Amino acid sequence: MEVLELRIYPNSCLRVRAKSVDEFQGDLKDTLQLMADMMYATKGIGLAATQVGIGLSMFVIDAGEGLINFINPAILERSKKKSKMEEGCLSLPGVTVGVKRSEKVKVKAQNENGDFFEREFSGLTARAIQHECDHLCGRLIIDYLNPVRHFMVAANLPTLKQKRISTTCEVACSVGK
Ligand code: CO
Repeated sequence: MEVLELRIYPNSCLRVRAKSVDEFQGDLKDTLQLMADMMYATKGIGLAATQVGIGLSMFVIDAGEGLINFINPAILERSKKKSKMEEGCLSLPGVTVGVKRSEKVKVKAQNENGDFFEREFSGLTARAIQHECDHLCGRLIIDYLNPVRHFMVAANLPTLKQKRISTTCEVACSVGK
C-alpha cells in the first residue's frame, strides 16, 4: 500500500521552500486526496505538502467549511486586525504556540484542475491558511517563540520518533519526489 509519511520535527523536509506546481496532471489529485485523508485521520485542520516530504506549493484545509485545496497559494491581503491563538501542528506533536495572525486574508490560488480562484477567508480558515503558507516557506510555529523558549522546546523535540501514518488509498504518490 502506498503511504504518505508525516514528517515530524526536526525532519529537514519541514524546512524546504516549496516549488510551484506546473503540472496539473498525473498523480496530483491522488496526492491531494491522500493528504486530505491523512489530515482527517490525524484530526488536523490543514496539511501542507512539505509535511509529507513533497516539496510542492500546495496544502489542504478543512476548518469547518469543507475541504479546500490550495495550489500555488499567494496571500494578497492581510487584515491589519490580528488575534492571538494557541496553535498546534501535526509535525510538532504535543507542542502549542500562541501565534498572532491576521483575522482575514485574501488569497489567490489554483484548485486541483489548475483553475485560479481568489477568495477572502476569515476566522479559523484564515488562520489555517497563514499557518500552511508558513509551511510552504519552511516556517514552523516554534519560529514564533522567543529564542529562549525556542531553544527549550526544540531541545526536547528530537526525541520524537518519526510517525508513519498510512492512509486508506492505494495510489502511487510520486509528485515532487
Ligand atoms: Co503545521
